[in-house]
Amino acid sequence: MAGIPRIGSARPGAQRSLALAALISAGLSSGCQDDARPEQDGGTTTSDAATTTTGADESTGPEMVDPNAPTWYQDIAPTVVAKCGGCHREGGIATFSLADYEAAAPLAPIVAASVEEGRMPPFAADDTDECQMNHGWKDDLRLSDEEKQALRAWADAAAPEGDPATAAPIPEAPQVQLTTADLHLEMEGSVAIGGIFDEFLCFSLDPQLTEDRYLSALQVVPGNDRIVHHVLVYVDETGGSADLAGPDGSFECDGGDLQGQLIGAWAPGALPARPPEGSGMLVPAGARLVMNVHYHPTGGGDEIDDATAIDIDWLDEVPAWRAELALVGNGDGLVAGPNDQGGIEFRIPANASGHTETMLYTIPNDIPELRLWGIGAHMHYVGVDMFIGVQRQTSPGPSQECLLHTPTYSFEWQRLYSYDVSLDDAPRLQGGDQLYMRCIYENTLNNPGVAEALGQQGLDEPIDVYLGEETLDEMCLGIYGIAVPSIF
Ligand code: HEC
Repeated sequence: MAGIPRIGSARPGAQRSLALAALISAGLSSGCQDDARPEQDGGTTTSDAATTTTGADESTGPEMVDPNAPTWYQDIAPTVVAKCGGCHREGGIATFSLADYEAAAPLAPIVAASVEEGRMPPFAADDTDECQMNHGWKDDLRLSDEEKQALRAWADAAAPEGDPATAAPIPEAPQVQLTTADLHLEMEGSVAIGGIFDEFLCFSLDPQLTEDRYLSALQVVPGNDRIVHHVLVYVDETGGSADLAGPDGSFECDGGDLQGQLIGAWAPGALPARPPEGSGMLVPAGARLVMNVHYHPTGGGDEIDDATAIDIDWLDEVPAWRAELALVGNGDGLVAGPNDQGGIEFRIPANASGHTETMLYTIPNDIPELRLWGIGAHMHYVGVDMFIGVQRQTSPGPSQECLLHTPTYSFEWQRLYSYDVSLDDAPRLQGGDQLYMRCIYENTLNNPGVAEALGQQGLDEPIDVYLGEETLDEMCLGIYGIAVPSIF
């Protein structure tokens, strides 16, 4: 993964440069003393990790340990395995495991701190004063207050193990990766990305279908995540993209260029798109799949990508609902906002804090009633908060409904959030309804993402940011997972 995740806006940049080794030694060094707890900028605690015992070691001094403190086997393991273990396990997307006592105990202080400070688990969707959700989320990773307090108490008591013989049952961690896909399609050839300009390349892939198929899951696997900024996957119904590819297997395309139905989207932190039970995404016989890859150079010489790929699981039957992804926003229905000069504009002035861009987009009248099963927010580095709601004019449901609020949006953790309801009960949308999208931006050096993005371009002061494809441009885009009856 590209660096340490950043969640929230008000945290200065030091944390991003933290090496995991420093983290672990901070964890190792904290024992029971509160003053040894790692600070937000972590790794700077001065206690000597080498001579301090780990939390797991009983020699920490039993007199300090609360006998009623939560223990790993009785209280902590179910939370950590269910809420962290999807990524923090052998072969997971995080670099270190929290899956068992031996792995988790030395990290107890940093585990508790990462949760208290909202960095972990990465789950930006939340219920807020502005947004009370009518539906829960599938694979909701948020911890309850009791779970957070238990983690803190466990860490403060030097991570007691408890008794494995009477261990609490351990729930399954949500499956965050496709581990056994039916089909793996990888780019052919390789591309080198250097200089300072973003590049957009498309790759045509052949799923070799002789009949229409529906997919139940699609995962984009970035080949080199230092340069892959985002990936869109669309269906090329005629297969014509095969003729466009040059010797390295790629052809030039524009960032938002979709010559067919969008079925996959990846940005850092994304998990596989899984349309709900009873639905699937159509890939017609003879079609090809095109990966539209946005590469962002590191600023430090050429980087190679030869492995960006997609994994697919197929359904065996024709589902009752056809699922799709739709992108709406990026200026569609932009309304007047702060700092506009003259007319309505999408411009985030240098050094603006809390700047908003708002869109009110009326769904075209010819769109039939849709079910909304998943939703995601996409902005670049300046964005810190996105809100999506609907004002219904025509479809059944509440006249106003919050669909997603990500008050701690982070570029590093973008994903599609799925409602924990069947398609029958999912929010409905149709022509005439209005989608409300509001993005909040922090275009100052207090925003670590801004500092980093500027640095990659050799700049050290914020600049005015406009709507656009490049990394130093901004977006305010909603990703909508929708379903329509298969007959449409
Ligand atoms: C969706 C995947 C995912 C989940 C779920 C997740 N993590 Fe992480 N976590 C990561 C990744 C990726 C990193 C970056 C460091 C690395 O590569 O391991 C990370 C980093 C961390 C770090 C070090 C950086 C920091 O911010 O302190 C800690 C501690 C941590 N996670 C704890 C947790 C805990 C505790 C949970 C559960 C309550 C959790 N994580 C859930 C993926 C995840």
